[in-house]
Amino acid sequence: MKRIAVLTSGGDAPGMNAAIRAVVRKAIYHNCEVLGVHRGFAGIINGDFRVLTSKDVGDILHRGGTILQSARCPEFRTYEGQKIAAEQLRQHGIEGLVVIGGDGSFRGAQVLNKMGFLTVGIPGSIDNDIGCTDYSIGFDTAVNTAIDAINKIRDTASSHDRVYVVEVMGRNAGFLALAAGIAGGAEAILIPELKQDLNEVARRIAEGINKGKTHSIIVVAEGYFGDPVVGGPELSESSAATIGKIIQQVTKKDTRITILGHIQRGGSPTALDRMIATLSGAKAVELLLNGESQKMVGYVDGKIMVFSMDESIAMQKTIDREMLELANILAVI
Ligand code: ADP
Ligand code: F6P
Repeated sequence: MKRIAVLTSGGDAPGMNAAIRAVVRKAIYHNCEVLGVHRGFAGIINGDFRVLTSKDVGDILHRGGTILQSARCPEFRTYEGQKIAAEQLRQHGIEGLVVIGGDGSFRGAQVLNKMGFLTVGIPGSIDNDIGCTDYSIGFDTAVNTAIDAINKIRDTASSHDRVYVVEVMGRNAGFLALAAGIAGGAEAILIPELKQDLNEVARRIAEGINKGKTHSIIVVAEGYFGDPVVGGPELSESSAATIGKIIQQVTKKDTRITILGHIQRGGSPTALDRMIATLSGAKAVELLLNGESQKMVGYVDGKIMVFSMDESIAMQKTIDREMLELANILAVI
């Protein structure tokens, strides 16, 4: 194989640049040229490619975001869009692609594979909801960003005897909330996968306060109440705001909310994210050069492992309920 392409797609994640760097330098080492695709699948449709040299990917290992930019591309979901994309890839002599993104992006890669191109996926998403991997690129950084914020919130919460509801990202998945809640010592963790009786949660918070807690932190995933309905009341209020009102009503404690938002998507990647991204990028190139396709590179039990992309897409990653229960046990004083 003489020419491959790399793209980042879906929500960006810290560490994507480290993966791009590894893809480019590993491929060049094997005398294979790499084209960077600008803005995910939209870039393929628009023929927005540029050759990436070893120098082009210098000084990006430690940077958040993605030098290739990312996008969501509804046109690529249509047959027309896919036909144009395939034509562009053919015209540019691209035989294989490394797709860095979430399971939506993997579905896009699946389509290209069916159209005759070799594809390998690297999981990149702060949500960490991708099947066949313990970690997706960006998750560790996002957890650390959330922890840093929770530590600061705890300081001021203690000074004022307040309850804080901290909303972290996760439209459909609670992995980030669970990890941030556990590592941040939250009194309660609310995730989309498990609805809890909020009056009961408030009662537990009140009990802790009565026993002398000077602060209480509730970590909630943004998607706790499910997808917002267009025109529905959910659009006007965040999960954190709704929960904050209930908690204040029951506990009669001064309650504040903090929505961490997109700061969780940026920032310099942690060492773990850089490591996983680098090893995955190199492995993806190795797979393509060996003529393999429809594979994804996972990180399982501390090792880089290869799975079929179909298996990864089909797998519904589940939350560790025991971890959630443990968080509740440890919150009691
Ligand atoms: P993520 O990769 O983070 O899950 P999305 O679900 O938004 O993000 O998917 C990213 C992009 O992948 C979409 O904008 C679209 O271009 C492409 N994509 C997603 N699902 C499909 C699909 N079923 N068929 C073709 N392309 C898809
Ligand atoms: O990257 C994943 C994620 O952060 C989700 O948790 C969140 O709901 C979504 O992306 C928001 O992305 P955007 O604001 O780019 O639409």
